[in-house]
Amino acid sequence: MKDMFQRPLSDLRISVIDRCNFRCMYCMPEGSCLDFLPTDKLLSFDEFLRLVKLFVLLGVKKIRLTGGEPLLRTGLIPFIHQLREVEGIEDIALTTNGVLLSKYAEDLKEAGLMRVNVSLDTLSEEVFKKLNSKYFELSDVLKGIEAAAKVDLKIKVNMVVMKGVNDKEIVSMARYFKGTGHTVRFIEFMDVGNKNNWNLNKVVPKVDILRRIQEADMPFESVEDYSGDVAKRFRYVGSTEEFGIISSISDTFCGSCTRARISSDGKLYTCLFANNGLNLAPFIRGKASDEDILAKIQDIWNHRNDRYSEERALINSSEIQKIEMNYIGG
Ligand code: GTP
Ligand code: 5AD
Ligand code: SF4
Ligand code: SF4
Repeated sequence: MKDMFQRPLSDLRISVIDRCNFRCMYCMPEGSCLDFLPTDKLLSFDEFLRLVKLFVLLGVKKIRLTGGEPLLRTGLIPFIHQLREVEGIEDIALTTNGVLLSKYAEDLKEAGLMRVNVSLDTLSEEVFKKLNSKYFELSDVLKGIEAAAKVDLKIKVNMVVMKGVNDKEIVSMARYFKGTGHTVRFIEFMDVGNKNNWNLNKVVPKVDILRRIQEADMPFESVEDYSGDVAKRFRYVGSTEEFGIISSISDTFCGSCTRARISSDGKLYTCLFANNGLNLAPFIRGKASDEDILAKIQDIWNHRNDRYSEERALINSSEIQKIEMNYIGG
């Protein structure tokens, strides 16, 4: 199954809950208007599982669980267990803010989770309080990463870089994780949603991030990658350790975008920057057969022509109502 630009569908990102215990400045800043879904609107895990099995028939091999904060959703661990049993799924991963990871790492691993991406933007308690959460400690996240490593979950660390907020820490983050086996990815601050006060001046572009690492005497070389990964990969010279850059602003990757997203209330979105999606909930909860639902998804994918990051410069982003990051999970 291919879209209008000949891109297949191979990854499914499922937001299992739109709520979060953090208020990251780049996502849903403290004081922004929050309007979470009522619990009865969330798809049940049985409903998600039915959808997953249909998506696998259409080519999906990789499942990523997101939120909000996915570890806040009761029943996540048995769901992962069920995902592991689905033939055709090769990768099951989770994106989390990490504060509940020390509590659940062992159970997640046992259930069949393979990888975890942990958001960590700073090593300063002061910046953490301002950028991520007044109510949790940076050490909670670090303990979560440790717990995940202890049970052999493969770990990536996501650092969203905001100019004037945490960009001075690019080098210290690179140093801190070099030698741990965890890959840090520096992420350009993106214009997702409508409430993070994004503007281009707050973005530190890929070339600047690379320059800072180079100038810190940490030479690296580029790693060729044909996997459709969102990150450009780099390896420290003389080592097997890598870091990555997710440059959705300065060096886009829509051409290899094979991702579909399902929100926690069952809407199907074909781009992170979409403003509407097909609501699958009435079909799942009504009398639609699997064939009917497959045909709907197929039709959407066949007509897909999203390439928001490539068109960004031509769009007046403040004029369109986009979905929020906590609702779609990145
Ligand atoms: P891996 O499978 O480990 O490569 O995960 P991932 O990087 O795809 O997922 P993760 O949830 O860790 O996301 C990291 C960053 O990439 C977040 O800022 C996401 O919003 C961003 N991202 C993921 N997929 C896309 C995409 O299709 N388009 C854009 N613009 N950003 C994306
Ligand atoms: N720009 C870039 N990345 C973001 N994330 C959340 N909001 C933004 C944004 N505006 C990241 C989180 C998490 C992942 C799901 O998306 O840090 O790691
Ligand atoms: Fe931060 Fe993720 Fe929560 Fe948004 S959903 S506030 S990015 S932890
Ligand atoms: Fe895919 Fe949209 Fe991201 Fe481009 S902007 S890579 S089409 S999700």
